[in-house]
Amino acid sequence: MPDVDMRVELAGVTLKNPVCVASGTFGFGREYGAFYDLGELGAICAKGLTLHRREGNPGPRIAETPMGILNSVGLQNPGVDAFVETELPFLRQYDVKVIANISGNTPEEYGIMCEKLAQAGVDLIEVNISCPNVKAGGLAYGTRPELAAEVTQVAKAHAGSVPVMVKLSPNVTDITEIARAVAGAGADALSLINTLRGMRIDVNTRRPVLKMNTGGLSGPAVLPVAVRMVWEVAQAVDLPILGMGGVSKGADAAQMMLAGASAVAVGTALFADPYAPIRVRDELAALAAGQGLERAAELIGGVKPW
Ligand SMILES: Cc1cc2nc3c(=O)[nH]c(=O)nc-3n(C[C@H](O)[C@H](O)[C@H](O)COP(=O)(O)O)c2cc1C
Repeated sequence: MPDVDMRVELAGVTLKNPVCVASGTFGFGREYGAFYDLGELGAICAKGLTLHRREGNPGPRIAETPMGILNSVGLQNPGVDAFVETELPFLRQYDVKVIANISGNTPEEYGIMCEKLAQAGVDLIEVNISCPNVKAGGLAYGTRPELAAEVTQVAKAHAGSVPVMVKLSPNVTDITEIARAVAGAGADALSLINTLRGMRIDVNTRRPVLKMNTGGLSGPAVLPVAVRMVWEVAQAVDLPILGMGGVSKGADAAQMMLAGASAVAVGTALFADPYAPIRVRDELAALAAGQGLERAAELIGGVKPW
């Protein structure tokens, strides 16, 4: 089979292949670095950072579901300064693009984090807008176009030359409305989807299985929802997309790219198989070669709707 050129572009950043790892499912790479060279990956979306360190939510905070998991980890992380001082230098030992993922409770917090991360020289900043806005009574930024646009504007104003990718929440009626608002506010790329809100109840104790009552659903169960949303967003805005949600096979990655994603991220699949992103990359390369493609990028947006 001929060699396929696996390189893709994401907001002006060249990835050596389209398969990245999703924020919060790969830590800062240390554990997975024991399995393979992190330079095999297209990019690493680091664990979600906040301005100050957070302990996260009390347990139980992960529960299994049919073809997926529910989590309410609650952004446990060491804070942006510890990332810059300790984790980023670790990741910089590898030839891999580093995407820092940030969450804030106010637009100002997003701005401060963008400044610190731009100065530290990350390759891309992924702005998680599925977080409560304390000034708007805890409403998630990602559920209101005007709030999503405000955070995007502030992030862009403080990120210097580092591209800003806004991560959309699927917990909305019309994701294209949020995508348009964020694009209008200057985002350089979009990533989607974050987790879908869900709940499990223990019928004997009558208690929710998660201590926080509800959590975010991820894993193969959400793939069709994610592919549909990537497809809708790709038609609505002219921005590169990092597609994620349930990718665990090369064909899943190909679906995401045909729907319009320039690259994909593997998340929950890592918990069952730490090698999942490497396997997805190799399966994607084989699929592209089998279809006679010279470049994996030829898949992007190639779906032929009826
Ligand atoms: C345990 C866990 C922690 C996560 N933490 C974050 C996070 O810190 N920031 C973020 O933007 N998304 C976070 N996510 C969402 C994932 O990055 C991804 O968008 C989602 O899980 C869908 O992909 P998947 O089905 O391949 O896991 C987390 C997901 C899981 C399962």
